Amino acid sequence: MSQPVPIPHGLPMERDAGPFDPPRRLTRLREARPVSPMIFPDGHEGYLVTGYDEVRQVMADTRFSSRQDLGIVHVPFETPGMPTPTEPSPQMPGVFVAMDPPDHTRLRRRLTGAFTVKRMKTLEAHIIDVVDRQLDDLTRLTPPVDLVKEFALPVPSLVICELLGVPYEDRETFQVNSAKFLEKEVTLEEKMAALGALTTYLAELVTGKRATPGDDILSDLASDDDLTIEELTGVAFLLLLAGHETTANMLALGTFALLEHPEQLAELRADPALLPDAVEELMRYLSIADIFYRYATDDIEVGGETIRKGSTVVVALLAANRDPRRFDNADALDIHRKARGHVSFGHGIHQCLGQQLARIEMRAGFEGLLRRFPTLQLAIPAGDVKLKSDMNIYGVHELPVTWTETAE
Ligand code: HEM
Repeated sequence: MSQPVPIPHGLPMERDAGPFDPPRRLTRLREARPVSPMIFPDGHEGYLVTGYDEVRQVMADTRFSSRQDLGIVHVPFETPGMPTPTEPSPQMPGVFVAMDPPDHTRLRRRLTGAFTVKRMKTLEAHIIDVVDRQLDDLTRLTPPVDLVKEFALPVPSLVICELLGVPYEDRETFQVNSAKFLEKEVTLEEKMAALGALTTYLAELVTGKRATPGDDILSDLASDDDLTIEELTGVAFLLLLAGHETTANMLALGTFALLEHPEQLAELRADPALLPDAVEELMRYLSIADIFYRYATDDIEVGGETIRKGSTVVVALLAANRDPRRFDNADALDIHRKARGHVSFGHGIHQCLGQQLARIEMRAGFEGLLRRFPTLQLAIPAGDVKLKSDMNIYGVHELPVTWTETAE
């Protein structure tokens, strides 16, 4: 393409352009070579895809296998001790995000009924209730408080626990181990230990549900004898992890982003009808689940480059969502933008199963928070907010906030 750019060695991760923006090297790469060769830390070669059209093309083409991640450990090659891939990785039963058809189709099909727009709509009033109760608790605390701990993490955790039939009292087990599992700087052994703790817990839970079913998604699945306990455990693991970590980070990082854009925040407070578009725009602008891996099972032409069979391919969703060829003034947050079409929920057969649920949680969460805390502000300088650059899903570790008054 136009000008030569250095081939990246390792994935550029440093948020040197600001807490919400892609690393500068990724932006430069997207402009110069949206499908670029890259060298992984272990020395093997692959491709890094940063352009919007190119990312969609990769995600829509099932010749790019998803059997590349260990479940949703999104950064396998950055993990110390991870062996170089020479072929699609062995599958973890039930974890269909890391499977290809027909295995993926067989498992995903069993869940689509539980996550339809209609089913999720019927949950809306209940989710608003969960948000309200959490905000009631928040009003009783003396600020400053950590919004992650007191609001952003509990809301999606409570909702997904209830949907799946996981006792919320057990949240320590899955919150601590999920976080460890998603941390980048832990060794493969530590990751596997966290995974082991989670799967042991969930295997026991689904075995119990098979014997004595309740009224929840895991019990419904467990009543199907075609699924083994290992598969049920894998599905439970995927849903639990995907169902609370992602939305929690969106709520916290989204609040941070809004506080940093006070005029748009004021507009949203004045007119909550703007919320659905604002949520879509925050999804695009923040792209918290950013990096995904694929494995080329054939020679495939993308964006003028031939991706060779056997290559590891990294798609960078944040860079794609900031592509000026797709979105005008792409690096600006604009709550009036029609941001649908962003790739923050992925694209193709693996497109997020929980997206309607996530949207409802985010709308309810932001609406309640902004209405009841009209004077919400950061309790520390923005530059001191601890960012999750060390995690596979982006966000903030803590968001200390304060307020002077609350509203009913
Ligand atoms: C898949 C993002 C919330 C469950 C995905 C993918 C993305 C994503 C990008 C595609 C992965 C790939 O192509 O490899 C997000 C974001 C969320 C969110 C940003 C929150 C704002 C949720 C929730 C659930 C969920 C609440 C609840 C169950 C799943 C599942 C898959 C998935 C099961 C795998 C689908 C498949 O492989 O067919 N998500 N997600 N997600 N997500 Fe979400």
